Amino acid sequence: MEVTPETRRFLNTPIRIGGKTAEKRLLIAPMAGYTHVAFRELMESFGGYGLLFTEMCSAKAVPNENPGHSLVFRWRSQELPRLVCQIFGADARVMADAARRVEAEGFFGVDINFGCAVAAVCKKGSGAALLKTPDAAAAMVAAVREAVSIPVSVKYRTGWSDDPKPAIEMARRFEDAGADALTFHPRVAPDRRTRPPRWDYIRMVKQAVGIPVFGNGDVFDATDCMRMLETTGCDGISIGRIALAAPWTPAMWTCGMEVDAGLYCFCARRMMDLLQRHFEPITALRRFKKWMLFFAAGFKFGHRLSADIRGARDIDAACAIIDRFFASDPEKNPRPNMNLFR
Ligand SMILES: Cc1cc2nc3c(=O)[nH]c(=O)nc-3n(C[C@H](O)[C@H](O)[C@H](O)COP(=O)(O)O)c2cc1C
Repeated sequence: MEVTPETRRFLNTPIRIGGKTAEKRLLIAPMAGYTHVAFRELMESFGGYGLLFTEMCSAKAVPNENPGHSLVFRWRSQELPRLVCQIFGADARVMADAARRVEAEGFFGVDINFGCAVAAVCKKGSGAALLKTPDAAAAMVAAVREAVSIPVSVKYRTGWSDDPKPAIEMARRFEDAGADALTFHPRVAPDRRTRPPRWDYIRMVKQAVGIPVFGNGDVFDATDCMRMLETTGCDGISIGRIALAAPWTPAMWTCGMEVDAGLYCFCARRMMDLLQRHFEPITALRRFKKWMLFFAAGFKFGHRLSADIRGARDIDAACAIIDRFFASDPEKNPRPNMNLFR
């Protein structure tokens, strides 16, 4: 199923975020370990999105980070006009310093992570942990706002209990603190993605603020995309895992790109080429294996492909597995197999 012409038109309608414009209302969500410079260049081969996000970057590290060595704080200069750097941290001053570096490097904007619920991050008072202390979270947004003039966005979750009221209140406080846009993922913090997201909360958040709200969570196909837009009234959509599984998704939805049989093998081989261009061989292979878990979810026997790639000793072996798998025009899943990529 394709998106309707009205949805396509809507997704292609530029949107103001702070003082800048995103040309499309479809964002590629930040994903640690995945939305690295190579994956973003792969996405660029297809296009169709408004903005890309980096992996979350530690605010403590950002001011002194060397993009030539860092695995996460690394980019191509061509992508900066559509690239947002996401930062996380526990201290407002440190976040503001990081935001200044992000602005100086020329990113489209800076995004504050209040969504990460991983224990290692929350234990240090960062990510979703800050939703337990709304004053501190709002003060952090205000400090970042004060530090830079590029767009400041916030990505956050419902909070720590399944109640929309704190999330609505947080949205207002983020707006008051100077945030230019919100991406809202309506799941409770300890839930890694097992229970379905509460899209009805997105509608409530959207109604509570005047800044753009991007809905996020379990949008996997055109039907989901249209349903989220219709039922929540959100200003745009942020997609995560489906962009890993099918990086051409934005191009299909916003540009009407058609998928042909050769696309899958092309995409896998290009990802490997780009990983090798940007990273050392060991890192490239490791990241290819991680990505393959998602990409393989698009195929009937994807679990076998993913297992074979996991066992590959080196890049040549991984490429040989890819070529063998795609030589037989493997059967596709109409919707990626969620069990493979929870
Ligand atoms: C592997 C993985 C890594 C993620 N890393 C981040 C991150 O660094 N920052 C962030 O704000 N969200 C992160 N998320 C959450 C996603 O941005 C997104 O909110 C979530 O996957 C739901 O969207 P989806 O259903 O379209 O995948 C991550 C999600 C996944 C699956």
